[in-house]
Amino acid sequence: MPRPDLLRRLAGKQGLVCVISEIIDQPLLDACPDLRVVSNVAVGYNNVDVAACTRRGVVVTNTPDVLTDTTADFAWALLMATARRLVEADRYVREGRFQQWEYMLLLGGDINGKTLGVVGFGRIGRAMARRAVGFGMRVLYQDAVAAEPVAERELHATRTDLAHLLRESDFVTLHTPLSPDTRHLINAESLRSMKKTAYLINAARGPVVDEAALVQALKEGWIAGAGLDVFEEEPRVHPGLIGLPNVVLAPHIASGSQETRLKMATLAVDNCLAVLEGRTPPTPVNPEVLSRR
Ligand code: 8YV
Repeated sequence: MPRPDLLRRLAGKQGLVCVISEIIDQPLLDACPDLRVVSNVAVGYNNVDVAACTRRGVVVTNTPDVLTDTTADFAWALLMATARRLVEADRYVREGRFQQWEYMLLLGGDINGKTLGVVGFGRIGRAMARRAVGFGMRVLYQDAVAAEPVAERELHATRTDLAHLLRESDFVTLHTPLSPDTRHLINAESLRSMKKTAYLINAARGPVVDEAALVQALKEGWIAGAGLDVFEEEPRVHPGLIGLPNVVLAPHIASGSQETRLKMATLAVDNCLAVLEGRTPPTPVNPEVLSRR
């Protein structure tokens, strides 16, 4: 929704159900003093100035859990499509170029038995590790917090630092929220430290990767390929990515299954109504506001 329309329609309202393309910042809060709840239809909430909301007593909610497996399914699809060159293969057939079977045609990289590096071992990162178990993969993960030993055992996962993970992994998959600490976490230096045969998967947030550096890495063969569902300045996609064959691109649809989008919307509405009716919302981001009421 264009910003002026959002501000006009929000005037005098207490509840907002919004998606990540809406920026909920101090000027919006100033313009809408009646607002009591910002219910984001997403697990990530980097579009919301949570500190400003908290100062004003506005509850912020998100939609965790309901999208975990659907998002991991898609990130896994990106991983497989990238390594096995599925989009190139599809194009090859559609363009009528499949004239003769060829032994060395469109060779990709193996997935089974390889090492998966998971950056951010929260709900979605762990769901990726769970999929990796089925592919006989070793999992390395980087997270500020260590997983419980039982989870590490079940997921064949070992905690390590980012530098080691980047050096060792055949696939690096990003599942960290966007924050000042994670902006450009993957930059020219990190891409250079990855294996030349490795793939980068990003279904988290675009700005976690320095997109210009990634374009250079893909062009110059620092890494083998990338699968991206998110971009630095959505909906803009770095023009350098468009012409590259070794990247699979998707328009931020990882949580986009029929079932999950319905669950996300339902949870967001439940969150919004709970706050408006004086109940505790199911998934608050700043619960400290609730205890103040
Ligand atoms: C959504 C997401 O597609 O949940 C998130 O953080 O990025 C995706 O699930 C999007 O946020 C919908 O607003």
